[in-house]
Amino acid sequence: KPRVLSGMQPSADSLHLGNYLGALKPWVASQESQENFFFIPDLHALTSSFDPATLAQRTRTTAAQYIAGGISPEKTVLFVQSHVPEHAELMWVLSTQTGFGEASRMTQFKDKTAKGGTEAANVGLFTYPILMAADILLYQPDRVPVGDDQKQHVELTRDLAQRFNHRFGEVFKVPEPSIPVTGARIYDLQNPTSKMSKSAPSPAGRIDILDEDAVIAKRIKSAVTDAGSEIRFDREEKPGVSSLLDILSTVTGTPLPALEEQFAGKMYGHLKVAVAEAVVAEVGPVRERAKELLADPAEMDRILAQGRDRARATATETLDAVYSAVGLLRRG
Ligand code: TYM
Repeated sequence: KPRVLSGMQPSADSLHLGNYLGALKPWVASQESQENFFFIPDLHALTSSFDPATLAQRTRTTAAQYIAGGISPEKTVLFVQSHVPEHAELMWVLSTQTGFGEASRMTQFKDKTAKGGTEAANVGLFTYPILMAADILLYQPDRVPVGDDQKQHVELTRDLAQRFNHRFGEVFKVPEPSIPVTGARIYDLQNPTSKMSKSAPSPAGRIDILDEDAVIAKRIKSAVTDAGSEIRFDREEKPGVSSLLDILSTVTGTPLPALEEQFAGKMYGHLKVAVAEAVVAEVGPVRERAKELLADPAEMDRILAQGRDRARATATETLDAVYSAVGLLRRG
């Protein structure tokens, strides 16, 4: 079976619809046919503003949403990044093989520092993609399923793996990014040319999957639409309507042309009602199941401890091979 690995940061109380459709749903869809490693990159969450009083709970909440969305802790190795110290250790070695210029070209870093400038940024935000490369390479996956915005980081990971193998011998598998056909980039409902994000200035354009049904429906019904009245997929001319169609297509699995046909002659309001119904039907049960899981935090922690042990078995093997390839004295 091909091996896959991916993760989502515990940087909010809830995953949003972009995380759900761009990542979690595709992970679940291919869970049976693959060997899965899904984890919670809590060390990455330290690079942007966070509250020490809520971080641990957010890590549990994120794990609960994975499981509620369909990830099985038996079929998947489900773990927390900071529980496996090999991530930070491998990151150090990889950072010595990463060019400063190369790291400077990561667009997510550039976007995140566009406003405040690099002076205000922390070094962890800069080296973030190298930690992500370590997350991936430790587990030797064939594929890394991510949304569009993480593709460049997976490309960097491939470059680092190839460079390392070339210089020190074949240690790493060179993984492929795997980007879903629809849902790879879900847009902000109020600003349909920007991606839906945890850090958007206003939550009005975001769907948090743990929100109540009524809140979700209201946000969808208040989504910005475009001039004219025709319902067709056209990102340039009709970003608002296209976003809604993309969401509906991803949630229901109906191809876009079929949706265009179904909504020919209908009004924007009809489309919004259909999207709201489909999204609520999809994520409502996930929210309820996540709530049940979170009622027993000790059980969540037990599941994550089991995942940690399974993850470490693989991670230590790769790190040993790396340390030996670069010539470090064996620690015994
Ligand atoms: P994060 O936590 O920002 O996002 C988690 C996943 O959700 C996807 N995503 C979206 N997909 C569609 N539309 C959107 N609007 C949208 N917003 C987010 C992301 O592409 C991602 O797949 N650096 C990563 C976390 C990470 C990781 C890793 C991922 C750390 N180490 C190793 C894979 C492998 C991140 O911040 O994702």
